[in-house]
Amino acid sequence: MTETSLPSVLVTRRLAPGVLERLTPSCDVTLHDDDLPMPRPELLRAVAGKAAVVTTLDDLVDAEFLDAAGPGLRLVANHAVGTHNVDLAACAERGVRVSNTPGVLTEATADMAWALLLAATRRLGEGERWLRSGRPWAWAPNFLLGMELSGTPLGILGMGRIGRAVARRAAAFGMPVGYHNRTRPAEVAEDGPRWLPLDELLERSQVLVVTCPLNAATRHLLDADRLARLPAGAVVVSMTAGVVDEEALAAALDSGALFAAAVDNFEREPEVPAALLAQERAVLAPHLGSSTVRTRQAMGGLAVDNVLAVLAGAAPLTPVQA
Ligand code: DGY
Repeated sequence: MTETSLPSVLVTRRLAPGVLERLTPSCDVTLHDDDLPMPRPELLRAVAGKAAVVTTLDDLVDAEFLDAAGPGLRLVANHAVGTHNVDLAACAERGVRVSNTPGVLTEATADMAWALLLAATRRLGEGERWLRSGRPWAWAPNFLLGMELSGTPLGILGMGRIGRAVARRAAAFGMPVGYHNRTRPAEVAEDGPRWLPLDELLERSQVLVVTCPLNAATRHLLDADRLARLPAGAVVVSMTAGVVDEEALAAALDSGALFAAAVDNFEREPEVPAALLAQERAVLAPHLGSSTVRTRQAMGGLAVDNVLAVLAGAAPLTPVQA
């Protein structure tokens, strides 16, 4: 508590328009008013004595962070659906609650998966670079030929909210959908997406969209061996950093085993592996999955509502369990 006796809250990044205003009437807010992450030493200094903190995926919440915060910290409100930046066990040991922002970014992220899927299969990045480079071009029967989607099998790795939203859009493109989740569903709709064992899914998917969360079980799940199971000329769209081994993906593009790939976020952001940057057939996006005004306001709003709930003595609205 500060002199104002309002609970003190750290917000580690500038929020979408209108979000912070919901917090300021009832909290003493320290805002890192920037679009870049807080440098670690600054973060550790700023979190000291706070009752709650709104973090992003760039803020590592580990034992060091929790020690720096001190015993008054009650909530880590991650401004993301993912929580791989948070040591959940360390938070649980210290009685610090953790929340995330599920649900509100589903549609925006599924839209982006499709934007990338279409860009990769129809070679939009290459076409754009071609025009901007000033190289001569002409319509020609064999110019920048892409992959047709209608009738092409789509695989989805991770059939959570985002996976299901990706699958719904696939119906409009006439793509049969298979998917893999760790747990096989008890009931399967006749004409709906079909659950397949992982290796079988890979073998059948001409286009594979990766939407499963990153955790210890999924880190580098798609390594060189698993990528090699995809059909010749497949396309991989990665919406979760760390599940696809980036070096193996670049190598599969380089060898021509894959037709194309698209990647929305990276394992060591803001670093983008040079091996991927060198691939003409890689469409690379700077972590734009949830980047619409409406979604970012909803994510920020949910993070703030979690803070307000916990500071009022209630449970987080969207808690994350260790
Ligand atoms: C998340 O919420 O985990 C996303 O990566 C942010 O867009």
